[in-house]
Amino acid sequence: MIYLSTILFFILIITLIAIFLYYFLFKNKKIFLRFSGASINNKIKENENFLKIYKSILQKVTDGIAVVDENKNIIFVNNAFRKNIRSGLSDNVNKFELLTRNYELNNTINKIIENNDSTIIEKKISYFDKADEKIVLCKIFKIDETKYYAVIIRDITYIQKIENIKSAFIQNISHEIKTPITAIAGFIETLKNGALNNKETAIKFFNIIDHHAKRLNSLIDDLIVLTNIETGGASLKFEEINLINIIENSLQLFQNEIRTKNLKIIKNLDCTTFFSDFSKINQIIINMLQNSVKYTEHNGKISIDLYFETNSGANNIIADLSETSIVWGTIDSNADNFLYISVEDTGIGVSYPNLLRLGERFFRVDSSHSADPGGTGLGLAIIKHTLKLLNGTAILQSSLGNGFTFTVLIPQIGINSVSGKNNNIMQA
Ligand SMILES: Nc1ncnc2c1ncn2[C@@H]1O[C@H](COP(=O)(O)OP(=O)(O)OP(=O)(O)O)[C@@H](O)[C@H]1O
Ligand SMILES: [Mg+2]
Repeated sequence: MIYLSTILFFILIITLIAIFLYYFLFKNKKIFLRFSGASINNKIKENENFLKIYKSILQKVTDGIAVVDENKNIIFVNNAFRKNIRSGLSDNVNKFELLTRNYELNNTINKIIENNDSTIIEKKISYFDKADEKIVLCKIFKIDETKYYAVIIRDITYIQKIENIKSAFIQNISHEIKTPITAIAGFIETLKNGALNNKETAIKFFNIIDHHAKRLNSLIDDLIVLTNIETGGASLKFEEINLINIIENSLQLFQNEIRTKNLKIIKNLDCTTFFSDFSKINQIIINMLQNSVKYTEHNGKISIDLYFETNSGANNIIADLSETSIVWGTIDSNADNFLYISVEDTGIGVSYPNLLRLGERFFRVDSSHSADPGGTGLGLAIIKHTLKLLNGTAILQSSLGNGFTFTVLIPQIGINSVSGKNNNIMQA
């Protein structure tokens, strides 16, 4: 009996243990699972949120980013990528080569995939977006420990343009400085080697040295003026200026050449005073007259016209221009009156393709058809930049062999619109 009750007792204990285990382990497992399920869901949600954040950031960066798989299916592409190297086709394409349609870029990514290359390839790629050439710097690489590839592109068109201008500028300036210095050094050497003993030869050589030294000096002056304007260092000082004096004094500078070439100067000066910056107006007029005197051959004619023009008159002048006329700037819509200065010559003129390039620093028309009168190609660049400061407009009309007419329209600044303590200084 005792034996039977012991067995029953044990069965009871085992049943209790089984019930205990069922409730505490199995039920707890459910609880555990419930808990762990919630945390997985939370994790997934968290990851989805992070993905959203990353995607939204990547959509906003200015570099183009595209991710493709090994079959070049697009996994991700941001707006900047589409904008920078778009093919013009629908944005909904899913193959990389259809998105870019750029042979060089596709070729590079093909090679990386084929060779399972894990290095970062950097390439400058140029392509045409409508008529404009664009240059992008591409980085193409396999994303670490995945079978995906990333293409990152940066638009460097502007930087490249600046680089090209810089190196062309350095090349030009070195050439322009080297030429007179070589001549000066050469003639000094010749003088040292005996030419000094012959007075006539010595005077001739000194004159040549003087000419080159002056050329060097004017080149540096021009560069200082240009740099000042470009860096915003040039300030405008407004005052009442006497235009007749400026024209007469400028013509005086070229009197020898005018006389030697027997040039006829015709003046129609219908206004005398103008409220503007004396040195800037003076600079424009000197460069305009210098060119007309320089590029007009013997017995030629130069006509100078000066008058005030209304805003509608100025707009009509622009509207009536022939297709081959070049205009720099636009008519200032805020100005009522404009100073009109035109210098027309009967000189060698400029062909249309060259006319388009005038105003570029150091650009000079190849003068193989006539004797080179010398110059650095900075005069018109100075006029162009100075006019920008004054909100002015220039009109260039010419054809090869048929003279040149250079016209400027400069808005009259109202005295009240000039700021500054003394009412005459305005920072450009
Ligand atoms: N009136 C003109 N007639 C014909 N060609 C001209 C005339 N004005 C300018 N050009 C052409 O435009 C080019 C650029 O003129 P720009 O005044 O900038 O330089 P430059 O006269 O050569 O030198 P500088 O820096 O001494 O003025 C000249 O070299 C010349 O070929
Ligand atoms: Mg000139």
